[in-house]
Amino acid sequence: MKKKSFIPYGRQWIDKYDIEAVVKVLESDWITQGPKVEEFEKSLSQYCGSKFAVVVSSGTAALHIACLAAGISKDDEVITSPITFLASANCILYCSGKPVFADVQKDTVNIDPGEIVKKITKRTKAIIPVHFAGHPADMGKIYKIANKYNLMIIEDACHALGARYKSNDKWIKVGKCSHSDMTVFSFHPVKSITVGEGGAILTNRRDLYEKLLMFRNHGVTKESSKFKFKNSNLNGDWYYEMQELGFNYRITDFQCALGISQLKKLDRFIEKRREIVKIYSEELSEIKEIELPVERNYVKSSWHLYYIRLKNFLKRKIVFEKLQKLGIGTQVHYIPIHLQPYYRKNLGYKKGNYPNAERYYNATITIPLFFGLKKNKIKNIIQKIKKVFSYV
Ligand SMILES: Cc1ncc(COP(=O)(O)O)c(C=O)c1O
Repeated sequence: MKKKSFIPYGRQWIDKYDIEAVVKVLESDWITQGPKVEEFEKSLSQYCGSKFAVVVSSGTAALHIACLAAGISKDDEVITSPITFLASANCILYCSGKPVFADVQKDTVNIDPGEIVKKITKRTKAIIPVHFAGHPADMGKIYKIANKYNLMIIEDACHALGARYKSNDKWIKVGKCSHSDMTVFSFHPVKSITVGEGGAILTNRRDLYEKLLMFRNHGVTKESSKFKFKNSNLNGDWYYEMQELGFNYRITDFQCALGISQLKKLDRFIEKRREIVKIYSEELSEIKEIELPVERNYVKSSWHLYYIRLKNFLKRKIVFEKLQKLGIGTQVHYIPIHLQPYYRKNLGYKKGNYPNAERYYNATITIPLFFGLKKNKIKNIIQKIKKVFSYV
């Protein structure tokens, strides 16, 4: 058990309006698959500017059925980033595809479009760019590559609900799917908004939307216009057809009520994260031993994470441990996926394959960043970081 004064690296913000919204559903006739599911989907689409949204039980479930809807199957190659949570690559394996990593940019830690091109083969079917730490990947360039090679794009925007990027001088919200086929979000407690466990896929394509609805619910359709067996006069209202091998990735109505309530606060959540980042970046720039995260000028990051990079990576472990001892919740996001034993053993990846990703990993520490972080705590975190660097 961590001490009460311990500051975690991330946490949710739940207010009385959220609680009231959930309780109202719990007191109603529906607690799962009721009206709040569609309402949450509509709110998400409206916020992001997409045509459709499908909400599911986790970001991982969302990535899985996005890959299925994209038609990823045996031996298809899908290119993604090595610096991300395991789910961004595991979703490809769930469909019997092959995850192919492309190294990251040194500054943003996002997948490098130049590296994507080097990894394309005849078997490449899709790209899954990850908007690392909430900083959108270079979607303009990735979109051009995908068009040239006829590839699908699934944005893993689990860190980036509320982020924006500029294209043709216009700000575009992540989730609008202007440069992708689908965009995936997670609503885990450390993300921009939370429903406990949950996720969503946004798209502008009706064909994908319809597939996603089926994959969420056992591959079943109840819409008579879609039935394969249409001619039976004996079929009544009970009739449904299973047309794909789907899953139970449904989400409950009370979680969706929480999601709707949280979404109303999203812009405030992001604004506060951006304010904290400004303070961190001003104060921590005094420490010569570290490098701070960047925000490119065509991006407004949702700042899911704030990471510092040590110029001398040999000191990372000691700084990490000292900060933990001082009550500062540090983390490392992420161990490069290609270095995981499963990936080395089954896909033959080796240390040294992705130098930028490994260099970043060796030197990085995530420090606390979340909506409820009070001014005195921010000051306290900064003081302690400065103190640790004054003697390590
Ligand atoms: C980049 C990324 N993709 C996917 C996921 C999976 O989301 P979930 O935890 O909701 O399954 C996460 C969660 O941490 C993530 O960070």
